[in-house]
Amino acid sequence: MGADPTGSANGTVPILKVRGLSREFRGFLAVDGVDLDVAEGSVHALVGPNGAGKTTLFNLLTGFLKPTAGSVLLSDRRELAGRSPEAITRMGVARSFQITSLFAELTPRQHLELALASGTGLGWRFWRSDRALARFAGRAEELLDQVGLADQGGVPADSLPYGSKRALELALALALDPKVLLLDEPTAGMGVEDVDRTSALIRKIRAGRTVILVEHNMNVVANLADRVTVLQHGKVLIEGPYAEIRHDPRVITAYLGDSHVDR
Ligand SMILES: Nc1ncnc2c1ncn2[C@@H]1O[C@H](COP(=O)(O)OP(=O)(O)OP(=O)(O)O)[C@@H](O)[C@H]1O
Ligand SMILES: [Mg+2]
Repeated sequence: MGADPTGSANGTVPILKVRGLSREFRGFLAVDGVDLDVAEGSVHALVGPNGAGKTTLFNLLTGFLKPTAGSVLLSDRRELAGRSPEAITRMGVARSFQITSLFAELTPRQHLELALASGTGLGWRFWRSDRALARFAGRAEELLDQVGLADQGGVPADSLPYGSKRALELALALALDPKVLLLDEPTAGMGVEDVDRTSALIRKIRAGRTVILVEHNMNVVANLADRVTVLQHGKVLIEGPYAEIRHDPRVITAYLGDSHVDR
């Protein structure tokens, strides 16, 4: 018997196996032939200078953009590339967004009840009544508690402080109970206290799942990530454990060569 063709070099099958993934925008390759193995149960960080293609890669993995070329295989060998975001979510891969995308007038509790209802696959119309949504109240409360929003569950989202909005976004991704959770800059724009709280939260919610994390804060990466992939100009520059990649001259040049090293 030969080696499992879907396996990686060390013989374990990655939960996500990305090969030759590319996305072109009018002749410009934002993601350019990316190969990536994400180990099941790991926290895998994706770093790189602004414009490196990190968010575009997330959009390709979650169906918000269609790849120009390449493949994304789940460990059960199902192909994700080219499927819709809804189909990919149903297959257990969910994400949070770099930019906040909440409904201003809905409360965190309402956001979560709707997210939980959408996970049932029954239509929006069916769940429009408050009574139907009430069946998700218990789980919504648990999620609020988990992300530290228990006291803010009833206020309109647009009046939440920034850190709480980001916490709600995390809870919304968690509501789908994904096997693979993709977080796009979960600590962006946060003060030290919120960064620490968010790191602790990610450490808690990684149990039983795989987390792919785009993160500019290297302390957070050092704290959480088992492996780090550095992207530059849409390509993988280097990959390895944080302790190995952080002193690599190529990584230092990639960051210093960029004009946005102030983050
Ligand atoms: N829809 C689009 N149309 C054209 N170009 C795009 C589009 N989306 C992204 N790009 C370009 O692709 C490149 C990668 O962008 P992307 O947002 O993926 O970078 P990033 O690594 O997430 O950067 P940041 O750290 O600033 O969030 C950039 O040059 C960007 O301008
Ligand atoms: Mg981005």
